[in-house]
Amino acid sequence: MAFVLPERSISKGPNFIRDVFERGAGIPGFISFGIGNPAGEVVPVAEIQAAFDYIVHTNPLEILQYGPMQGDAKLAEQTLHRLVHVHHMPTQNQQLLLSIGAGQDLGLVPRTVCDAGDEVYMDAYTFTSAINAVRSVGAKAVGIPTDGDGMIPEALEKAAKSGKGKYIYLIPNFQNPTGITMPLERRKAIYEIAKAYDLFIYEDDPYGEIRFGGERVPTFKEMDTDNRVLYAGSYSKTISAGLRVGFLYGPSEVIQAIQVMKNNCDGQMPLVTQRVVSHLLEHIDYDEQIQKVCKVYQEKCHVMLDTFRQYGSSKVHLTEPTGGMFIWMTLPDHVDCDAFFEEAIARKVGIVKSGAFAADGVPYGQHFRLSYTVPSLEDIRKGMQIIGELTREYCGD
Ligand SMILES: Cc1ncc(COP(=O)(O)O)c(C=O)c1O
Repeated sequence: MAFVLPERSISKGPNFIRDVFERGAGIPGFISFGIGNPAGEVVPVAEIQAAFDYIVHTNPLEILQYGPMQGDAKLAEQTLHRLVHVHHMPTQNQQLLLSIGAGQDLGLVPRTVCDAGDEVYMDAYTFTSAINAVRSVGAKAVGIPTDGDGMIPEALEKAAKSGKGKYIYLIPNFQNPTGITMPLERRKAIYEIAKAYDLFIYEDDPYGEIRFGGERVPTFKEMDTDNRVLYAGSYSKTISAGLRVGFLYGPSEVIQAIQVMKNNCDGQMPLVTQRVVSHLLEHIDYDEQIQKVCKVYQEKCHVMLDTFRQYGSSKVHLTEPTGGMFIWMTLPDHVDCDAFFEEAIARKVGIVKSGAFAADGVPYGQHFRLSYTVPSLEDIRKGMQIIGELTREYCGD
């Protein structure tokens, strides 16, 4: 039988991230700046092993049953406590839903709130899954131009005038793929536009706690005076991505609808992994664990930038993140970025073409995403020397 798939289910464009992975796989000495995984050395392996041991040997039948739809009660309480007491988020009319990473929320939110033809505003280059999740429900992922401070309010307002907008998707801290953090004044301006055009804000913040420089900026959710912000967070980058535990926090009526959608699509979260995270939060110093992650990423990020400064072209711009996992490299307009990419692969370094992150209406662009988390310091030095020298060959000194 020939399946006829609806347009919304057919992926649009090539998969540049998988491309890097496949091209590098099995090549000895290949250095990949393409993988967006957390570093292995920051995962608290022994503590997670001890937590699993404890959990499977204490009341095993409890965790081997279905859990509550909204997630494990204790982990929900610990998560909420941190959101309210450490991150100063409002409590009135709010609800928390534990989810399979923050990633699950990317699918649940548009599936719950969008009708076909709705528009969702997002940074011109943003997290691929967020773009695809919006497209997959027949809504339009509209790319809004950005500058060094993130989404440009005037450009957002221009798009919002269509009257078709449903929400604004933002990664305000250490954006994936650009590494940019939106300053406070910009956040306030975006919030005002959300108010004026009655849009809600989907604040995706899986990297928010991985800050290794600059000043903390209040989240949209902290400043959410009229309850229009859905905030997604995750334990993937601070504890372990494989446990798949994240959460969504926001207006009760929206979270309730999302919970029903989750129930219908996926059922409950596994209790085992939630209890592991909960056990860890109780038995380790979580802030100290976050500091460990920050320290490792700070060093890797600085080595990446310093090596580029030593070998790279002055015509090429690199963002200088103050946290998170990514640097965004921009080449001059005249450079053939496909040829540049091919040559990088030929010299055994993987980087991701900006087309991977382009929302609707956005050109594939003259940029590349570089992730510094997984490779060793030595590989970052080697790989960035190669990339740096390549930029001189393609762009001049
Ligand atoms: C912006 C953004 N949102 C969400 C996620 C999903 O994270 P997780 O599902 O592991 O919490 C990622 C992961 O790379 C991300 O970069």
